Amino acid sequence: MEGSTGCEAPLNADELKNEVAKINWYHSIDLGNGIVTHGWERNTASRLRKLLIPDDLQGMTVLDVGAWDGFFSFEAERRGAKHVLATDYDSWLGKTWGSKAGFELARKTLNSHVEDMTIDVLELSPDRVGVFDLVLLLGVLYHLRHPLLALERVFSVARRHLILETHVDALWSKRPTMIFYPGSELHGDPTNWWGPNPAAVVAMLKCVGFEKVQIVSKHDSPLFGLGRATYLGVRRRASFFSALQQNRMVFHAWRE
Ligand SMILES: C[S@@+](CC[C@H](N)C(=O)[O-])C[C@H]1O[C@@H](n2cnc3c(N)ncnc32)[C@H](O)[C@@H]1O
Repeated sequence: MEGSTGCEAPLNADELKNEVAKINWYHSIDLGNGIVTHGWERNTASRLRKLLIPDDLQGMTVLDVGAWDGFFSFEAERRGAKHVLATDYDSWLGKTWGSKAGFELARKTLNSHVEDMTIDVLELSPDRVGVFDLVLLLGVLYHLRHPLLALERVFSVARRHLILETHVDALWSKRPTMIFYPGSELHGDPTNWWGPNPAAVVAMLKCVGFEKVQIVSKHDSPLFGLGRATYLGVRRRASFFSALQQNRMVFHAWRE
């Protein structure tokens, strides 16, 4: 594993505020003493509630794939996991507008023992990282050029339970379908490649070996869907009709 788990002297509140302000945060993390990071995602805590991560992770091992600032890794530790490994690749290597600085600072400030490894999801294997009771794959699948291959790698390191959250598209289709974004059509971000529909996510998870798969997200009401599409159309200049077919969904999968 890579980084230190923080034996340096703690920063005082003013020093911490200065350090926090230097970083482009993805997550909004409560670092204590009234200091909350100003993440691109304004309210990470509200997304946490939708994931239905078990409240009690006592004694469990957890792998957080594509952890970025590490909000969910720190949360797993807070819920009692005995060993948490946060991994990432692109943002930790500075290939996006983000970096690993937020993860490092949050880990130090929260006095966390979460371990870290910079590794591409396609390189995950029991030999490289071990096998984990719970694997988190949150907000990553649609960024991958080879999603099915990536899920095979994720399956290889999942001892029991996977929680997967992803952008979904083609909600009109009941058949397993994936929309390909060869350019920046999804939210102007060229690192978004695929929008699977729920049937495709379920089918892929089963194809790679998970025996039981459950969709845990509630379906939006038609009114909420309209509001969301309008918001995305204005805020992210998405096509209203495309946005109507898109959403975020959470899937839980078990080996047996
Ligand atoms: C939208 S962010 C999600 C961050 C966090 N998991 C969450 O749900 O809030 C996507 C993350 O996936 C990472 N990522 C993208 N491609 C990856 C790959 N091939 N291997 C590992 N991480 C990857 C990015 O670097 C980024 O940190």
